[in-house]
Amino acid sequence: MNSLSPETQFNTAVQKILNHDVVAMPTETVYGLAGRISSEAALQKIFAVKKRPFFDPLIVHVASIKQAKSCFQNWNEVAEVLTQKFWPGPLTLVMPKSGLISDLITSGLETVGVRWPSHSLCQKLIENVGEPLAAPSANLFGRTSPTSSAHVYEQFGNSVFVLEGGDSNFGIESTVLLIQKNELKSKFNLSLLRPGSVTKSEITQALNSSAIDWSWIEVLDRKLAPGQMKHHYMPNRPLIIIKPSLSHLEDPVLKKLILDKMSKIPDEIEGVRVMKPQHVQNFEPLLLPNDAVLAARQLYSKLRQTAETNCDVIIFRQSTQHQGELWESVFDRLYKAASLILE
Ligand code: TXA
Ligand code: MG
Repeated sequence: MNSLSPETQFNTAVQKILNHDVVAMPTETVYGLAGRISSEAALQKIFAVKKRPFFDPLIVHVASIKQAKSCFQNWNEVAEVLTQKFWPGPLTLVMPKSGLISDLITSGLETVGVRWPSHSLCQKLIENVGEPLAAPSANLFGRTSPTSSAHVYEQFGNSVFVLEGGDSNFGIESTVLLIQKNELKSKFNLSLLRPGSVTKSEITQALNSSAIDWSWIEVLDRKLAPGQMKHHYMPNRPLIIIKPSLSHLEDPVLKKLILDKMSKIPDEIEGVRVMKPQHVQNFEPLLLPNDAVLAARQLYSKLRQTAETNCDVIIFRQSTQHQGELWESVFDRLYKAASLILE
């Protein structure tokens, strides 16, 4: 890790980004691997460093509404209401892109995801660079997202410069919302592509207090929702989730059950290597607070910490107390990080 003063560190980050390099930047959700949207070299480097497939689009980070508008073809009433309410913050809006946004950022889609982070150092970085920054989470493709500079360092060592910004406050990635306008009926269709800390009911509430004609729809066309692979966020050791229906089982019975199911764990799914246990002797529990806000904040660091113990498998016992929309966002990550879910 670097030992530069905060000021030198910040100036180095700005210079690197201006020089078409990539830098890990703090945000309130997770650390991002950032490069200028106008730099083809930086965008290529983001994919190369992360070993990310090109079909998975990048989120664009802005530091003003004006910058956000420059990334989209059009602005609309839904974007107006939601950004007034939730920006700066952990909500990404997906709408048709402007000419400033390259196909590399959107993986060839006609839409782009944009958000204005609330982390002040991140805002200052975007302002000083003077243009929006494309940034995926700063982890290798498919692996656990980073919520501290140490996590980024663990993953990339000295090959990526990290701007220190403390621990991420929210701890899980932004809510991703697709906004589609039906021009004929001047009606809006909204789809939640990734759950996060801004919940569906908060979005519903914000829009219901406006006069906008809108509704939720499921996205059936998977092309419109790339990057939502079944396996994602994986720690270095296999994570096994025990659903509440089996929570009464004692460890010896669980071990037998896991041994039985082990052969069913695939080696690889959608390009991500699935962690498989070699033995099923040592269990290490993943312990998360019952409070959903704290659970989200601590999720990735607890996953990493638990994976560092000398265990064969990490066990998470889902409890009936884990209720509510934010817990659902946490479970979205946990299920994808799991090698096996027992129910
Ligand atoms: O909180 C976050 O969103 C963090 C921080 C760094 O801002 N970023 C992040 O990026 O989580 P990443 O690359 O790990 O996830 C981006 C995901 C894609 O995998 C995809 O699911 C969705 O956002 N996405 C981005 N652009 C999209 C688009 N045009 N259409 C549909 N989904 C899109
Ligand atoms: Mg990610």
